[in-house]
Amino acid sequence: MATMRITSLMILLVLVIVTDDCHSISPWTPLTFTLTPSMGPSPGPSPSLTPAPAPSPSAPSQGIKAAYWPSFTGYPASFIDTSYFSHIYFAFILPSPSTYELNVTSFHQEKIPEFMDALHSRNPPVKTILSIGGAGNDPSVFSQIVSNELTRAIFINSTIGVAREYGFDGVDLDWEFPINELDMLNLGLLFMQWRQILECESKVTNRSRLLLTSAVYYASIVFLYAPPPSYPGDIIGNYVDWISPMCFDYCASSNPFTGEHAALYDPKSNISTSFGIQSWIQANVPPEKIVMGMPLYGKTWTLQDPNVNGVGAPAVGAGPGNGILVYSQIVEFNSENNATVVFDEQFVASYSYAGDSWIGYDDVRSIKMKAEFAQSRSLGGYFFWALGQDKDWTISRAGKMVVMTGIYGAEDVREREGKIIERQICRKWVLEKKKKLVLATGDGGIEVVDSADCRDLAGIHGEIAEEGVGHYLVLLGEVKQVVNGRRRSRKLFA
Ligand SMILES: *[C@@H]1O[C@H](CO)[C@@H](O)[C@H](O)[C@H]1NC(C)=O
Ligand SMILES: *[C@@H]1O[C@H](CO)[C@@H](O)[C@H](O)[C@H]1NC(C)=O
Ligand SMILES: *[C@@H]1O[C@H](CO)[C@@H](O)[C@H](O)[C@H]1NC(C)=O
Ligand SMILES: *[C@@H]1O[C@H](CO)[C@@H](O)[C@H](O)[C@H]1NC(C)=O
Ligand SMILES: *[C@@H]1O[C@H](CO)[C@@H](O)[C@H](O)[C@H]1NC(C)=O
Repeated sequence: MATMRITSLMILLVLVIVTDDCHSISPWTPLTFTLTPSMGPSPGPSPSLTPAPAPSPSAPSQGIKAAYWPSFTGYPASFIDTSYFSHIYFAFILPSPSTYELNVTSFHQEKIPEFMDALHSRNPPVKTILSIGGAGNDPSVFSQIVSNELTRAIFINSTIGVAREYGFDGVDLDWEFPINELDMLNLGLLFMQWRQILECESKVTNRSRLLLTSAVYYASIVFLYAPPPSYPGDIIGNYVDWISPMCFDYCASSNPFTGEHAALYDPKSNISTSFGIQSWIQANVPPEKIVMGMPLYGKTWTLQDPNVNGVGAPAVGAGPGNGILVYSQIVEFNSENNATVVFDEQFVASYSYAGDSWIGYDDVRSIKMKAEFAQSRSLGGYFFWALGQDKDWTISRAGKMVVMTGIYGAEDVREREGKIIERQICRKWVLEKKKKLVLATGDGGIEVVDSADCRDLAGIHGEIAEEGVGHYLVLLGEVKQVVNGRRRSRKLFA
């Protein structure tokens, strides 16, 4: 009798603590700010940066038409014509390598409000997404963050705090790149945990759930490393709203021959957009959750012999713009230099040359064909890197004319995924050194489990960090079992 009363009281206390904790996610306390912008350096085009795409809830039949705004180039957010896009990404913010929370520097304090003020009142409206990472980030920081449940929770909590404080509609991870299978396993755990906490935060605060997206390598297997690790396609399909394969930067101006850095097709290699997109579909990511990347910049070379000037021609180094020109600069270069412009049907890309200068790039025609390719594969849409590089919105307009049929609608996906989400634990929280688990269930309830009632929960929990996805799945299964008071398959999510 006495024992029962004590237990009830404890559960009540824990519930109060948990409720407070959940609520504390929403009124975000500003972090301390520092004076140095942590954003990447290079003004002008940032070809190596890879942003992710965005969905378009305002006009689902149009699909996701997204673009990244590089906050560090000086291109004003107020110049963005929102009529071409459904989602605009703020690029970038980084996690602190020491605390794993997002580091909102004084640069961000200035730039994020500029971005939000410029876009929030726009008609047509666009969704805004906070992108975390970018090519300038140290990938090992992400590797550390995802390596255990607590650091993941700290990071996730911080992303929600910053996104809510400034009024973003979603968060985007741009980790370039996970380097091995362990990173990939942990990335899967991050996505699962992130989505679960986003669902919970939405229920607890009664606000629209934040979107969860991720910019990823052009293919589902990262060929940059040996052995090449594979992204967790199944988990991405279940927990991420969409991914944005960065289908560009296939070649560099340091190569001793010219190339199309974002070729749709390449008969001689697998480094092409069509191959990359197909690999993502084969990895079980539903096509409507794939948002194909397209560059608004080209790569340049200096030809060895001006008379040998096709794709693959011998080159002796970078060309104009130190290897990179954005589309508006390319149009200008071609006109000023009376360049010869060739459309290459095989690669679906253009190139131009004048004297010994050579540029490979996407133009209005290739972008239209790529958007049609995305349409033909029922993809969710496309995204551009980056705003400020188009020539009078001509490329943005060409893309917008192509209606995507792989309809992405937050409602559709939620309905389809509802079965999974409702079956899983929305959130779990370990209090008092694993003595108690506090769970918010998928149907909005919060339940507390005393580990004494389920002896092996703490043990299973202890295995998670060490053993990865499989055990995390088991844990969810076990927790569900406890909450419902009946046994369930250990293969709940397999
Ligand atoms: C945040 O970024 C600034 C600028 O790069 C840096 O000086 C500061 O140490 C960072 N803070 C943390 C907590 O990492
Ligand atoms: C989440 O962030 C909020 C706001 O800063 C903070 O009060 C809370 O303690 C954080 N929770 C965790 C688990 O980090
Ligand atoms: C949640 O928000 C909706 C409007 O967005 C409102 O109609 C509803 O009453 C709210 N529910 C709670 C429990 O506050
Ligand atoms: C391209 O990938 C396919 C299957 O992944 C493989 O069979 C083929 O050998 C690859 N081709 C090249 C040129 O690497
Ligand atoms: C421009 O190039 C074309 C051939 O590509 C040539 O016929 C024409 O004379 C050139 N015009 C000028 C002004 O150089």
